[in-house]
Amino acid sequence: MSTVNHCFYAISYTWKKSRSYLLLTLLIQVIVGFMPLASVWIIQTLINEIILFMTSSGDIQKVLWLFGLQMVIVILGYGLQFILQLSQQKATNLIGLHLKGELLQKAIRLPFITFEHPSFYNESQRVMNSHQHVLSMVRSIFTIVSALITVVSLLIYMIGIHWGLAVILFVFTLPVLGIELFFGGARYQLNRMLTANDRREMYVSDLVAQRDSLKEIRLYGIGNYLLQKWKGHYVKSADEKYKLLKRQVRWEMAGGLLMTFAYVCCGLFIVFLIFQKKLAAGTFVAVLQAVQNIQSGFQDLTREFSSLYETSLYVDEMRAFQKREEEIHDQTEGAASLRRIEHIQSITLENLSFTYPNMKTPAIEHIYFHINKGERIALVGDNGSGKTTLIKCLTGLYDPDQPNMQKVNGKSISTINKRTYHARMAVLFQDFMKYEFTVKENIGFGRIDDIDEDERMILAARQAGIEKRINQMEETYDAQLGRFFEEGHELSGGQWQKLAMARTFFRESDFIILDEPTSALDPMSEISLIRKLFDQTQDQGVLFITHRMGAARLADRIIVMKDGAFVEEGSHDELMALRGEYKRLYEAQSQLFQQKEMV
Ligand SMILES: Nc1ncnc2c1ncn2[C@@H]1O[C@H](COP(=O)(O)OP(=O)(O)OP(=O)(O)O)[C@@H](O)[C@H]1O
Ligand SMILES: [Mg+2]
Repeated sequence: MSTVNHCFYAISYTWKKSRSYLLLTLLIQVIVGFMPLASVWIIQTLINEIILFMTSSGDIQKVLWLFGLQMVIVILGYGLQFILQLSQQKATNLIGLHLKGELLQKAIRLPFITFEHPSFYNESQRVMNSHQHVLSMVRSIFTIVSALITVVSLLIYMIGIHWGLAVILFVFTLPVLGIELFFGGARYQLNRMLTANDRREMYVSDLVAQRDSLKEIRLYGIGNYLLQKWKGHYVKSADEKYKLLKRQVRWEMAGGLLMTFAYVCCGLFIVFLIFQKKLAAGTFVAVLQAVQNIQSGFQDLTREFSSLYETSLYVDEMRAFQKREEEIHDQTEGAASLRRIEHIQSITLENLSFTYPNMKTPAIEHIYFHINKGERIALVGDNGSGKTTLIKCLTGLYDPDQPNMQKVNGKSISTINKRTYHARMAVLFQDFMKYEFTVKENIGFGRIDDIDEDERMILAARQAGIEKRINQMEETYDAQLGRFFEEGHELSGGQWQKLAMARTFFRESDFIILDEPTSALDPMSEISLIRKLFDQTQDQGVLFITHRMGAARLADRIIVMKDGAFVEEGSHDELMALRGEYKRLYEAQSQLFQQKEMV
């Protein structure tokens, strides 16, 4: 899309969100645009009057009156600048609120798979601050309007004196516009190229600055190594920007020389006109001032055109981001035709395969799976065998390689409104979230509409075995967690995990899916939690992933995964009788215990 198109977008967006700012700014910029002409006219008249006064035929009152007028213009200029600053700040706040809000909303609605692409992170980093670019476009457009008024009005004034002056100015100043435009584009391209490097730099500096990573960095003594790494990225970015600036400065110097040359030529031309007695002395001074004003107007124009071009490239990316396809949700038209489900009765996978973006081989392949409400299934397997990936597909976060490989209640998932599907399932991920908010929020996020249902929350905390720890804190459920904010209470790894479990319990669901829910728990907590889970979820479906065979044993059915495929399936006894992969895993763990006992 063209810069002009983006200009219309920026103006119409600001018009919608902050009409008064737009009109006020336009008015001020138009007045400011005419001020140099007024000033030039006053100077010219003033000097001519003073000369007349010195030759004793002038009028002192008129001289004083012109002085006063000049002062009024200067004060008016200051006043308008102040108003402009305030109204611009107001507009920045408003547009930031709306546009950044829209961009964040968009990020929430994008398909989850989008976040698997590193290039998307580069893009989203640039895009998240684009609201500033929209406003900067509006500012540039208004400054251009103002500068155009100044330049055109003064050029008309100059043509009135002699057309040759306008020609000189025009010819010598035009190349400067080209230079500025070129470097505006080059700056954008460079920033684009450096985003990946800048993200690396940010990542490393965040590592060093964060508590969680810092403890390992200290103990392993890798601080200096990371510092060097950070330096490398920083220097690369700084060097590239400096190189471009050096080139830009050289060209701008050449442009400056051209402008000075134009100024000198105009000056000489006026002297020539004075010698020919075609100009009064006052006009000479006024014309020189006009030349200066036109040149600074031209500089404003070139700078703003270049910035307009540069920011429009950012706005282009932002608008493309806004147009990215969203996951179908309730507000979209497509959602109306999708089936809403009240309850999940069963989930089926038929020959499901899934390949991550940029990967050659599928992470899971030819999966056939069926789970009914009320069934409890354990999923076991080596690291990297595809268990978590399976859950991501099952929950609909990732679409499988071929459509219609997944059914919910016997109907293809593509015909189902995913929000209603998600509303009936509770999922605890392996890398669950530790929200550094209050206990209440950490549990209540499980079903945000019911966050004030205290009794249910206490029950969920009890079921997850975290109630005692919560009551130890003075503010109990209102206690702030984590160390990121003031007065935060830190929990142990296992306690955080129990809190995340409480979140899944708090959610009213037909299916509970847990990815290693007990990985951070002590053995007593683990067995008691799984037992409680099964007791309290008689009519819910439970699918849980575990590396602990003792816990898997409690399930009705156990599935063993290896290299992205299901290799065995059955009850504990059936699988032991098979003498295959499950037996290998089970015995490996029990041998470990026996050895410990022998020791
Ligand atoms: N985001 C990703 N992009 C590309 N490949 C991935 C991604 N996540 C996982 N993989 C790969 O897919 C395979 C399956 O990973 P998955 O996380 O499903 O394993 P898992 O069985 O859950 O392992 P673990 O027991 O360690 O949690 C692995 O080979 C892994 O390297
Ligand atoms: Mg996993």
